[in-house]
Amino acid sequence: MTEKRRILVTAALPYANGPIHLGHMLEYIQTDIWARFQRARGHEVWFAWADDAHGTPIMLQAEKESISPEQLIDRMHAEHLRDFEDFGLSHDNFSSTHTEANQGLVERIWQRLNERGAVRTRTIEQFYDPDRGMFLPDRFIRGNCPRCGAADQYGDSCEVCGATYDPTELVEPRSVISGARPVVRETEHFFVALEDFRDSLAAWVRSGALQDEVANKLEEWFGDRLRDWDVTRDSPYFGFPIPGNPDKYFYVWLDAPVGYLASFAEICQREGLDFEQWMAPDTETEMHHFIGKDIIYFHCLFWPAMLEGAGLRRPTAVHAHGFLTVNGAKMSKSRGTFIKARTWLDHLHPDPLRYYFAAKLGSGLADIDLNLDDFRARVNADLVGKLVNIASRSAGFIHRLGQGRLGPALPDQALYERFINEHQAILAEFESRNYHQAIRRIMALADEANRYIDEHKPWVLAREAGREEEVIAICTQGLNLFRIMMTWLAPVIPATAAAAGRFLDVALDRFDDIDRPLLDHPIRPFEPLLTRVEQTQTDAVLEASRQSLGAPPPAEPASATATATAPEFADEIDFGQFSRVDLRVARIESAETVEGADRLLRLKLDLGGVQREILAGIRGHYEPKDLTGRLTVVVANLAPRKMRFGVSEGMVLAASGEDGRPFLLEPDSGAEPGMRIR
Ligand code: 2FM
Ligand code: ZN
Repeated sequence: MTEKRRILVTAALPYANGPIHLGHMLEYIQTDIWARFQRARGHEVWFAWADDAHGTPIMLQAEKESISPEQLIDRMHAEHLRDFEDFGLSHDNFSSTHTEANQGLVERIWQRLNERGAVRTRTIEQFYDPDRGMFLPDRFIRGNCPRCGAADQYGDSCEVCGATYDPTELVEPRSVISGARPVVRETEHFFVALEDFRDSLAAWVRSGALQDEVANKLEEWFGDRLRDWDVTRDSPYFGFPIPGNPDKYFYVWLDAPVGYLASFAEICQREGLDFEQWMAPDTETEMHHFIGKDIIYFHCLFWPAMLEGAGLRRPTAVHAHGFLTVNGAKMSKSRGTFIKARTWLDHLHPDPLRYYFAAKLGSGLADIDLNLDDFRARVNADLVGKLVNIASRSAGFIHRLGQGRLGPALPDQALYERFINEHQAILAEFESRNYHQAIRRIMALADEANRYIDEHKPWVLAREAGREEEVIAICTQGLNLFRIMMTWLAPVIPATAAAAGRFLDVALDRFDDIDRPLLDHPIRPFEPLLTRVEQTQTDAVLEASRQSLGAPPPAEPASATATATAPEFADEIDFGQFSRVDLRVARIESAETVEGADRLLRLKLDLGGVQREILAGIRGHYEPKDLTGRLTVVVANLAPRKMRFGVSEGMVLAASGEDGRPFLLEPDSGAEPGMRIR
């Protein structure tokens, strides 16, 4: 193996006053894939990040809820952490910027910046809200644009004419907090003199740490004198006080990136790593930050200047990505496309989204669109239709004809080697964050693997006596190709890969392992690794997003009005098709909530002497105890479905209208469990 690299990876810190949405998840998934990929190569990787817990919006949000900022950030931290774990993120630490460790590091960096003379003091004039008794950040002042006169514009820029200006230039300004007319007041602030770092920053920008388009942008900024950075906020503020200045606080953007280091310091403490060695300017360790393109300035100017000023190492690389759009447009609450991570998880498995993002992510700053129709088509075709299909077509024969043991040799060694020959190219694509190219290569191989099975037709041979060994050999080949591809994809779809690993009875977490095929090796029974994504699921995500954010239903589509008056029925089926659905009366023996699933109830049902467990999406509309003893109707011959919270053995029938509220079907009294419905 190549030399072992030591890598610290971070994603941008989410603000602790709002839920995680899919825009966040695009970045976290991109970061997580890279971290997992590096681990699978055998490198030492630490993925550290935190909640960004300080600032005026968090202080005001807590006030609005009549709780302390600490209570707010604790609650958000727990929610965020749960979302990340359920999305399969492999962070080694998710901390908060509001910790003593972070405060200690911030003060240390501040002291060093002072010692080297990089801190300046100046009196500035700023708007002050006399009713609320606080200085106002630009975003908390609105008024008429000084250029075009447009009403109700922010304190720093006009959304109508695009002008940027100083808040004191606004016409008829008012405080967003109290509505009062702000007054101009003087206050003394500390600034970091960025110009002092110009030469070393310019060299770092061209050191290979940045994407070309980011480096070009920075060079534009270097054209002018770099303005001093105001790192002070006046009390009241939720943040760290500036030592020696009790009424002044560090601006949230000063302590936020330090949070990367503080989170990592916690890992160092836990794992016995030498934090100082990792952070020394001449270190050989690596530090990679994944960020959105809107915060390049902070990460590529302020942050490296702070690090250098404090005598610490600079980032090895800052990897910026574009924004997420959903169905071709900015996420919108009224269209239901402002999708929270939790809403997604309520209806869908995380791996298909992880896969879809990977299939679209490149190394540049282009925006990524999550088109939900394309999403379903893509993941169903690639993951279910191609990848999982290889295993499901092969596994049965190994069990039926080979007692669950793979054959002793590969019948087509050359094909196996063609796969292995792609290994370096696929690794290079992952390394440079060209995930879409890695996926394209892997899927081309999946086509080859399916073609191999199609051509060799094990299902035909299996019917002929004496050809069992051939069938086992073909399926051994198929499963070995499947294993290679699953190993490459494990960083992208970790839950699915873990299930595949259980089925193959081998860990799929090391790239080095794939050189040696699995031969004469026992496998376990095949269980469905991933099921198709249905339109009902993505529709439910949109509907739930609209509802959870209190948005009115969308106005535009004409079909919405059409369906309100006359329902559109599903495609016609014939009587034979209908009669294959076995509907039974069932008695609900017990109903209980499912931990971690906001919408599910676990129902135990009696279908006339046969017990079934069904996960039903009706929580929130029924009290579990009220359901006990009720009769209802169940699809009894639906294949068991593996869901995130267990296997559901059938389906309970319920009606539902536009708002999604379920109405459980119930037969007339006198019906008995097990009766068939015809
Ligand atoms: O833009 C944001 O959402 C910030 N909370 C990101 C902070 S990243 C880092 F610097 F801490
Ligand atoms: Zn304007």
